[in-house]
Amino acid sequence: MPLRAPDFAHFPEFCDLLADYEPGELHGSGFWGDRQPVLTTEGYRAWVEELLAEGDESLPAREGRVRCSYFWITDDDGTWVGFLALRRTLNDFLLEEGGHIGYSVRSSRRREGHATRALRDALGEAAALGLDRVLVTCDDDNAPSARTIESNGGTYEDSRNGKRRYWIRTHS
Ligand SMILES: CC(C)(COP(=O)(O)OP(=O)(O)OC[C@H]1O[C@@H](n2cnc3c(N)ncnc32)[C@H](O)[C@@H]1OP(=O)(O)O)[C@@H](O)C(=O)NCCC(=O)NCCS
Repeated sequence: MPLRAPDFAHFPEFCDLLADYEPGELHGSGFWGDRQPVLTTEGYRAWVEELLAEGDESLPAREGRVRCSYFWITDDDGTWVGFLALRRTLNDFLLEEGGHIGYSVRSSRRREGHATRALRDALGEAAALGLDRVLVTCDDDNAPSARTIESNGGTYEDSRNGKRRYWIRTHS
């Protein structure tokens, strides 16, 4: 399984991973807006706690955020190579631009099929949550992400605000 639930035991790998990303590439990590990486053990722990809380139906949803399941993308050896977020519902912004699923792979491990496999498994997770189809988007000029979506059966609907919007059925 390329997808693993976030856990508290991987702070050194986390630092190594983040050093392998350019600013703005951390899709699927939960880092955006007022939540930015803090490279201390306390900062790491707080981030993992927040990620787990966002997926926990027994806790109140964070203001402005929809309920979301986060995963860490791993290779066959279990090495952490990227991030994936599965948003369980869409708000207005997500319907227009963000979609249900976001992901990224560290730059040194790209073009190995990790994103394609991770998105495939995320479709199974979405089906288990009761979603019949998911919206996945990418920038108009993001050819690797467009290929990732198309390889997973994405049907192009339209482009809005510079984003290509695809729907993928979770049940074949
Ligand atoms: C987009 C991204 C997640 C792809 O991850 P990846 O693990 O390299 O993707 P894969 O190895 O599964 O490759 C997916 C497809 O893109 C193609 N591809 C990958 N990198 C490419 C590149 N630089 N140029 C052209 N095609 C590329 C692959 O050949 C593959 O196509 P194929 O199935 O026809 O062979 C990765 O480039 C990334 O993290 N980018 C920064 C964050 C980002 O853009 N996230 C997506 C936001 S929508």
